[in-house]
Amino acid sequence: SASEPGDLRTPIVAVLGHVDHGKTSLLDKVRGSAVIEGEAGAITQHIGATAVPLDVVSEVAGSLIDPESFDLPGLLFIDTPGHHSFTTLRSRGGALADIAILVVDVNDGFQPQTEEAIRILQDTQTPFVVAANKIDTIPGWRPHEDAPVQETYEAQSDRVRQQLDEALYELIGELSDHGFSSDLYWRLQNFQNNIGVIPVSAETGEGVPDLLTVLMGLAQRYMKEDMEVDVTGPGAGTVLEVKEEQGFGTTVDVILYDGTVREDDTIVVGGMNETIVTEVRALLKPQPLAEIRTEKRFENVEELSAATGVKIAAPELDDAMAGAPVRVVRDRPLQDVIDEVEAE
Ligand code: GTP
Ligand code: MG
Repeated sequence: SASEPGDLRTPIVAVLGHVDHGKTSLLDKVRGSAVIEGEAGAITQHIGATAVPLDVVSEVAGSLIDPESFDLPGLLFIDTPGHHSFTTLRSRGGALADIAILVVDVNDGFQPQTEEAIRILQDTQTPFVVAANKIDTIPGWRPHEDAPVQETYEAQSDRVRQQLDEALYELIGELSDHGFSSDLYWRLQNFQNNIGVIPVSAETGEGVPDLLTVLMGLAQRYMKEDMEVDVTGPGAGTVLEVKEEQGFGTTVDVILYDGTVREDDTIVVGGMNETIVTEVRALLKPQPLAEIRTEKRFENVEELSAATGVKIAAPELDDAMAGAPVRVVRDRPLQDVIDEVEAE
């Protein structure tokens, strides 16, 4: 639907962390889908994007959330690869984010790409929470599917609880070594100077309600002003992938992080050789909760507003480049917009 002035932009949440620590699995849990099964060798090799509307966020969060207390439209999750060779993709994901989840395998602790992710978040000054994942792998763990974490924690044996505590305190120590004060999220009053640690399992869904509640709360409390942008202005985005699409020719998958894009807009896109100026032929919106990277079904729409993933079909896109900027021209002088794209 077309946006009204005063609408709030959807916050962008980047998911970062070491390879195999469970980033895609966590998003799969939120989506209720299994993107990871479709991945070659189960290693993420691209940036992905999934829009999760507020009603789904509150459904997953269950009793922890009161949807009435939120006016943000939902969350746009960006999945990034943890494999060491994808530093550029992680930086790109981090740079797009309003807020981030640092996923750490609770048994494995800090690893090289955890450290790298922390540096990216520091450099981009992106607030983040830590998802201490795979709590279900603690020996003797009794799973309580999709339960809030305190509920399942209290239902474990003393020995299991103790082992989890030890792993969590080690993690809090590692965060401290990197200059971050942190604690288990339910002990925190102030999330502005402290990092909230949320024990979760992407396998059993335990703690996932807490993770979504904390993210929504943080976005609502500390980021609302940043979200009060003119979502009706000319769109700005970043190319994730350049893809051949049957019936459309070459298309670009884009994360639109500001403004709107419309069906007949002129857009400027960064190219391998020359800057591309072209006209939007079709705007293809992934289904709600779909990962744009693997989705096959798209809805043809006239207009979309930030933040969202969108596939744009237009002539002359063969030369478009992943990572390049995309700008909608609208009523601005074309040369100004070309200069802006070339300066990036
Ligand atoms: P990259 O994208 O390659 O960086 O990996 P990733 O962080 O997305 O990890 P992924 O979600 O692909 O998970 C890696 C493996 O860990 C898979 O076999 C998952 O099934 C498993 N896994 C993820 N989360 C959990 C969890 O909470 N518990 C258990 N037991 N296994 C998990
Ligand atoms: Mg992954």
